[in-house]
Amino acid sequence: MIKIAPSLLAANFLRLEEEIERIQEAGADLLHLDIMDGHFVPNITFGPDLVRSIKKITSLPMEAHLMITNPDDYLEVFYQAGADIITVHPEVTFHLNRTIQRIKSLGAKAGVALNPATPLNVLEYVIHELDLVLIMTVDPGFGGQAFLKSMLPKIKRLKELVTSRGFELDIAVDGGIDLLTVPLVSLAGANFFVSGTGIFKTENYKTTIQEMRKKAQEVLND
Ligand code: DX5
Ligand code: ZN
Repeated sequence: MIKIAPSLLAANFLRLEEEIERIQEAGADLLHLDIMDGHFVPNITFGPDLVRSIKKITSLPMEAHLMITNPDDYLEVFYQAGADIITVHPEVTFHLNRTIQRIKSLGAKAGVALNPATPLNVLEYVIHELDLVLIMTVDPGFGGQAFLKSMLPKIKRLKELVTSRGFELDIAVDGGIDLLTVPLVSLAGANFFVSGTGIFKTENYKTTIQEMRKKAQEVLND
């Protein structure tokens, strides 16, 4: 199932409530929230308090993309704040299996995000536990970066693995996703599209989301 997940990082923070209402009415499937700590990635965004406030004004499911060191220390706080999916990076997780189990035991869905340079094989013994694998198509830290085409074979290999082993999980992509790159990643096997500037920097969110969905579907029909 195609899912469009706008990343709030590219929204106008001074008008966040209005932005969330607009994106919800535009047909987003969920909200992607980028949590950055200035350690794992060279940028700082927002924390659980804002996530909690957002939860109060939206009925959309929320994914917390934790780009933070020591994610274990913050799983519960983000779950309590309202995250439905918690996505962690193996690059800063010592015991990935344990972390995934913790996320699931809280009652959230578990996601793992891989930096561009991180190979798929870190997933080998945990993938059956996951609800989502997120392939970073830029190095994490900032919105508005250029999509890395070199990630297409990685998405394709992941899709093959998922299909051959019969897993039910979302294959997500994050970074530089817009109307031009959506067909490429969809064809490669992604079904979950995180997009920040690709949506929020366009005039009409609804048209953009509809068009993204259409472009993702079209390449599968051919
Ligand atoms: C990047 C973040 C992304 C970011 C995407 O570190 O994980 O979610 O907001 O932004 P765009 O879509 O503008 O590349
Ligand atoms: Zn993200």
